[in-house]
Amino acid sequence: MNDIDVVKYTDIRFSKVTRSDLANYWYKYHNSADNPWFAICLKDSQKHIGNIKLGPINYLHSIACLSLFIGDRNSWGNGYATDAIRLISEWSFAHLKLFKLHAYIYAENVASAKAFKKAGFLVEAILKDEVYLSSGKRTDLLRVGLTCERWLKQTK
Ligand SMILES: CC(C)(COP(=O)(O)OP(=O)(O)OC[C@H]1O[C@@H](n2cnc3c(N)ncnc32)[C@H](O)[C@@H]1OP(=O)(O)O)[C@@H](O)C(=O)NCCC(=O)NCCS
Repeated sequence: MNDIDVVKYTDIRFSKVTRSDLANYWYKYHNSADNPWFAICLKDSQKHIGNIKLGPINYLHSIACLSLFIGDRNSWGNGYATDAIRLISEWSFAHLKLFKLHAYIYAENVASAKAFKKAGFLVEAILKDEVYLSSGKRTDLLRVGLTCERWLKQTK
């Protein structure tokens, strides 16, 4: 989580993360109904390569924000992010009965945008010059979303 190539398109880069920060985060959220998060593990080896999180879930509107992080760079480009997004979408709609999921992606984060698109998410808005890149330049943030209705249509 302190590898700049990994965190450059996330706000994690603004602070150094220690093992104790991670332990505290785990204690705070590991049983949280409003912020469920999961390890992303390889099926064969069970190697833990990243995490995916929903939350906070807004039960009033039946929506949730989705974010993910694959820290193991050697695992990139194998479709794992796409699989993880598809799985958590299925769980959100079929089990939690949510109406809609959304996520925010730095415009430069081509891999993330592709993974969400392949999992069925649509670009709903482009927030112009919303955030800083590591270089100090500002960039756009894409908001992507997937409704349960669209998810059902594409799973049929
Ligand atoms: C972004 C991230 C989740 C993508 O994970 P991944 O497992 O590599 O994604 P996938 O393998 O499902 O790939 C999605 C697509 O992006 C492509 N891709 C992967 N890395 C890429 C890169 N560095 N540049 C351009 N495209 C890339 C893949 O080839 C694939 O496209 P394809 O299906 O046309 O071949 C992962 O790189 C990551 O966790 N990065 C750090 C944290 C982060 O940015 N999280 C997302 C915040 S919104």
